[in-house]
Amino acid sequence: MQDLYGRAVSYLRVSVTDHCNLRCLYCLPRDGARFHDPASLLGWDELGRVVAAAVRLGVRRVRLTGGEPTTRPGLVDFVRRVAALPGVEDVALSTNGMLLAPMAPALREAGLRRVNISLDSLRADRFHELTHFGDLHAVWAGIEAALAAGLGPVKLNCVVLAGINDDELLDFAELTRERPLHVRFIELMPLGTSHPWARERLFPVARMRERLAERHALEPAEVEGGGPARYVRIPGAPGTLGFITAMTENFCSGCNRVRLTADGELQPCLGSLLAVDLRGPLRAGISDAELTRLVERGIRAKPERHLMEEYLAETAGRRMWTIGG
Ligand code: GTP
Ligand code: 5AD
Ligand code: SF4
Repeated sequence: MQDLYGRAVSYLRVSVTDHCNLRCLYCLPRDGARFHDPASLLGWDELGRVVAAAVRLGVRRVRLTGGEPTTRPGLVDFVRRVAALPGVEDVALSTNGMLLAPMAPALREAGLRRVNISLDSLRADRFHELTHFGDLHAVWAGIEAALAAGLGPVKLNCVVLAGINDDELLDFAELTRERPLHVRFIELMPLGTSHPWARERLFPVARMRERLAERHALEPAEVEGGGPARYVRIPGAPGTLGFITAMTENFCSGCNRVRLTADGELQPCLGSLLAVDLRGPLRAGISDAELTRLVERGIRAKPERHLMEEYLAETAGRRMWTIGG
């Protein structure tokens, strides 16, 4: 269906758990991260009903996120269930990759089409530090398993942090010459723990492009997907480089998505506090037809754009790990 600004909403991002096995510097507090108790998370059946309602309204792509979605037992069966819904054309997963390697074949068999894997550094010690305490070798095993299982295009998400990992842009570019991997450089958004320092660590995409262009002639590229990334390629490379300009080049006019949080709120925009509670009505015995009307209401509430550049207090402390990015 279309929202009030004429945008077709065809993409649902579902956070299946707010729990995470890492603590990325910009996302989760290192100490004392508070997660929902299991009873307040939607169960798989409840999540399935919401996805089905969204599909009835025209959603064609479903992305499972977290927290870290692979930490929730039952993920593979849920993928199977979503992939079997008539009308669903794309089921994808956003993951930190730590637990992916042993699960990749089963996820693929269940109907998962592709994965996006967070990877903010190619250096084991830095990765360990940034993610408190991620294991780069485990993530690489996950990447290799995703490629081997045919979960492509395999995209790597790199949030570029000025003065922290921006010295690795060319190393990531080199990787795309060697492997069919699609590295996306993401501008830091003032959400989660990054809110107080997001401005000083923001590394604008324009500067990323300049730095890459000093070394490489880049040509435009297309990569399968439904998100805001814009892609280029080093001529002849099997992989690509993508840019997600959330802060410096607003892409909200092309937005096609809504989000379901782990605790059952439909959120029409990452940068706004608007939300429609679905958990209460679900537990009060709402019918599928009524649920569909509530999801429709959430889509209608989609604001024209986020206002994160203005650093409105509104985005302070937005819990990215519950919303799922
Ligand atoms: P595909 O293009 O379909 O592969 O997925 P995607 O890039 O939309 O999903 P992914 O979970 O990999 O997100 C990559 C980055 O883009 C994350 O930092 C997200 O928070 C960000 N992102 C995704 N959708 C939006 C959006 O609607 N608004 C903003 N501001 N950022 C978004
Ligand atoms: N700004 C930009 N990207 C973020 N992510 C998490 N928090 C932020 C933020 N504040 C990214 C993760 C993951 C993706 C789903 O969202 O690194 O790759
Ligand atoms: Fe976990 Fe993802 Fe947040 Fe990192 S960005 S702490 S992997 S939810």
